[in-house]
Amino acid sequence: MDANISIRPARPHEAVAVAAVFSAAREQMGFLPRLHSRDEEHDFICAIFRREQIIVAEWNRTVCGFAACHGDWLNHLYVHPDMQGRGCGDLLLAGSKATSQGVLQLWCFVRNTRARKFYECRGFTAVEFTDGSRNAEGLPDIRYVWRAPPDGTLTARLRPALVRRQSP
Ligand SMILES: CC(C)(COP(=O)(O)OP(=O)(O)OC[C@H]1O[C@@H](n2cnc3c(N)ncnc32)[C@H](O)[C@@H]1OP(=O)(O)O)[C@@H](O)C(=O)NCCC(=O)NCCS
Repeated sequence: MDANISIRPARPHEAVAVAAVFSAAREQMGFLPRLHSRDEEHDFICAIFRREQIIVAEWNRTVCGFAACHGDWLNHLYVHPDMQGRGCGDLLLAGSKATSQGVLQLWCFVRNTRARKFYECRGFTAVEFTDGSRNAEGLPDIRYVWRAPPDGTLTARLRPALVRRQSP
């Protein structure tokens, strides 16, 4: 873990920085069809900011990753390609778990082998496999579910900071 990486709730003006991470990460995912322009992806992220709980990772005060949750859904988890493999995703996922109600679920493309390994190593279980006919990309995907251990140890360290800072 890079000691200069930290996580915190996103600030309203950070949609542009988050959209830049989103676009850069998706451009690197070679199996994904390119369905939207960068401008459209920016508008999509602005809409997410209005309805989802966003946690950002920053490195030297630069936003380098984010997680977006809504209810028990982890809808988005992206780290800028230049920062992958340095612990940002691990920290963002831990933060998402810490602010959850003890359950998280998400969709992951079958071909996204790195992300699948990442989630499976962090307690997520595959519970549903699709043929891709229900997602925009038309790619088979997997629904993963994580349930908090009964003793609450996973959330104890991160939750106070994240929850306190999200309060108005
Ligand atoms: C999947 C993703 C979110 C993971 O984030 P990440 O920041 O790369 O993940 P981490 O660095 O926390 O951990 C990934 C691996 O790197 C290793 N790692 C962590 N710190 C490291 C370091 N300093 N140096 C090298 N490796 C490191 C971890 O051990 C981990 O390996 P493991 O899964 O075998 O345990 C990221 O790769 C990504 O954004 N991918 C593209 C978007 C995507 O697929 N999102 C998921 C959609 S469902």
